[in-house]
Amino acid sequence: LSGFRILVTAGPTHEALDPVRYITNPSSGKMGYAVACAARDRGAAVTLVSGPTRLPVPDGVHFMPCRKAIEMNDLVHRQFPDCDVLVMSAAVGDFAPMQIEKEKIKKKGSTPLVLELVPTEDILQNVVKLKTRQFVVGFAAESENLTQSALEKLHNKKLDLIVANDISTPGIGFQSDSNLVTLINKHEKVEKLPLLSKIEIAHHLLNEVLAS
Ligand code: CTP
Repeated sequence: LSGFRILVTAGPTHEALDPVRYITNPSSGKMGYAVACAARDRGAAVTLVSGPTRLPVPDGVHFMPCRKAIEMNDLVHRQFPDCDVLVMSAAVGDFAPMQIEKEKIKKKGSTPLVLELVPTEDILQNVVKLKTRQFVVGFAAESENLTQSALEKLHNKKLDLIVANDISTPGIGFQSDSNLVTLINKHEKVEKLPLLSKIEIAHHLLNEVLAS
């Protein structure tokens, strides 16, 4: 991958409710960090845009931390024109509170707290509009109709490759060091991989980028 510039996103996003609370998801960032490290080891120049994770910053990559979906959206848009490949493995939050309270929200007895959430920007959908030569890889976390739902995302988001995983299978995927995924390219070639470490999945993904 020497000569390739690869932009990778990883981890969850945090959407603040008030100064001490936020909405997030269980993404560990391990998949995106594995892609960043595998691409670096194969000679690529790697930029890693990461939401908050507990992982150490990998050596030898250009690291850009962020918290909110809108911040990740801005960083990806800034870096995208200069990259050859975008791997969008971040678990971007789909909803953010309509309003961030300045002070900590107080309990009011047993009165329910009703939150109004608004959809966040879809980073992939936005950035593919700027696509010139870039090869774009998306992920699909599905709990039903894995292949069909992933194919819809591949076409709707104008991706070159999608990595789909079934989040209903216990013990793999989120937080785990391994995953069971299916790779689907834009020609609808479907490749079901066996249970593999995230580093091995990263190499399969990068092989598919090189083969295209
Ligand atoms: N994604 C994104 N911006 C968002 C949400 C998702 O760029 N606001 C990207 C993810 O990084 C992933 C792909 O879109 O590569 C699919 O994400 P997923 O959560 O599976 O799908 P959604 O498009 O959010 O659809 P849904 O949650 O309804 O299945």
